[in-house]
Amino acid sequence: MKTNEYQKRFDGIAETFDDVIHFYTAQKRYESFDVRSDDILLEVGSATGNITKFIQNKDLICSDFSFEMCKKAKEKATEVVCCSAEYLPFRNAVFDKIICTEVIYYLSNPELFIKNSNNVLKENGTLFITSTNQEMVFVHKIRNFLRKIGVSKMYFDDGVRSFMDEKRVKLILQSNGFNIEKISKRVILPFKSMEKANKILEKTFSEKFGLIVTIKAAKL
Ligand SMILES: C[S@@+](CC[C@H](N)C(=O)[O-])C[C@H]1O[C@@H](n2cnc3c(N)ncnc32)[C@H](O)[C@@H]1O
Repeated sequence: MKTNEYQKRFDGIAETFDDVIHFYTAQKRYESFDVRSDDILLEVGSATGNITKFIQNKDLICSDFSFEMCKKAKEKATEVVCCSAEYLPFRNAVFDKIICTEVIYYLSNPELFIKNSNNVLKENGTLFITSTNQEMVFVHKIRNFLRKIGVSKMYFDDGVRSFMDEKRVKLILQSNGFNIEKISKRVILPFKSMEKANKILEKTFSEKFGLIVTIKAAKL
């Protein structure tokens, strides 16, 4: 799907986005970042600020290419910039960390996003990218089916049919001035009541079945 089609879909869902997202997995995405309270942060593709709301940092800029999403994010965050992930309009070397969760698979040119991120990060700054685990794409298909039969909190049809190609993103990061520090997978069972079981399972071989992949990359 083309970039402007995604943009239209996200503009169209902005008003009710917080009603269709899955709170537990959103919270788990946030928990996969280690941010310090004094970090200067940029969130890319922040939607309504549904991840931002967990972040306490005073130096935080939210950004999204959907103007309607930006308007909603403004209810939760002070600084919101409407821009594409592929053209970040900030000075070089200003951010300690960049958070980009569930966005990379919408980008027509993820390399441009990674290059831009490298420019605006300070030396040794960190880029966090999360994506739904492509190997667990069948869960996404089950979710689409449940949505069709009217089960709530099953997201909306955003047009995406596949997620991040982990190997490709790793290569792009490594060839654009990043060192991969860690790749982790979380949320084996997508239920808040299974939190304890998830914490245990995530430390075992079942980690590979985690629904959320987080890449932590440091600017060299
Ligand atoms: C699935 S939502 C993720 C929201 C939030 N980050 C989270 O993890 O729940 C994807 C967001 O990325 C934004 N987005 C998609 N493509 C983008 C692009 N090229 N530039 C900036 N934002 C983009 C969409 O408008 C949408 O708000």
